[in-house]
Amino acid sequence: MSHPLPLRLGINVDHVATLRNARGGEAPDPVRAALQAIEAGADGITAHLREDRRHIRDDDMARLKAEISKPLNFEMAATADMVKIALATAPHAVCLVPERREELTTEGGLDVVANEGALAPVVARLGDAGIRVSLFISADPRQIEAAARLRAPVIELHTGAWCHAVADCQHERAEAEWQRLEKGAALARGAGLEVHAGHGLDYRTAETIAGLREVVELNIGHFLIGEALFMGLGEAVMTMRAAMARGRTNAGLAQ
Ligand code: PXP
Repeated sequence: MSHPLPLRLGINVDHVATLRNARGGEAPDPVRAALQAIEAGADGITAHLREDRRHIRDDDMARLKAEISKPLNFEMAATADMVKIALATAPHAVCLVPERREELTTEGGLDVVANEGALAPVVARLGDAGIRVSLFISADPRQIEAAARLRAPVIELHTGAWCHAVADCQHERAEAEWQRLEKGAALARGAGLEVHAGHGLDYRTAETIAGLREVVELNIGHFLIGEALFMGLGEAVMTMRAAMARGRTNAGLAQ
């Protein structure tokens, strides 16, 4: 058995900015949340600069890059404006996500198959600048193969449909979505892609997906920011890390 890679936890701080923006002003500060998450054991910070700036603002990205000691994962649409900002920010990674309806697959990931021509120069430009490019896609073999053709080093599997089915106790649907994720992770790894996962994860689903050896990073936001209201962000991050460690251990994968 080959030695499994450790499982990293990236914390998405978008919803701290959502709360701040509900009132305007500066509080709560997503950078403060990022620093606290790192202090509690997060391996990286994710933030999504949306075209409408509904949560994270340009200055948040610049401050995150300047102030955090762990890798910054810049989520963005594959537009010329965003590429310019990403190149100026020089984050560790960029995760390309859909923002317009045409870019979306029915499962909610980026439609790499339909947008291969438009994505190719973006993946290449960011890669040439030394930024690790990830494509946020559903666990659809066609999307995974297209990501490999584009030579993106990383994909992030969209776990939303599976997490919803688990939360709604739709057991058959959850099982089918799980099978898709399991097969997708294996296919992607076999194609040489690094596999991340995210969207809708909570303690339970994070523990389960930690059992997939191909998955080396989870990116989690909404649930943990919600938990932070009740137990504080540091405690929520540590509880999540413990769930992930249990999942790795129970699957016989050392952390
Ligand atoms: N990964 C990606 C690519 C995302 O777009 C999001 C949502 O912003 C997440 C992970 C985190 O999802 P959630 O907030 O549901 O944990």
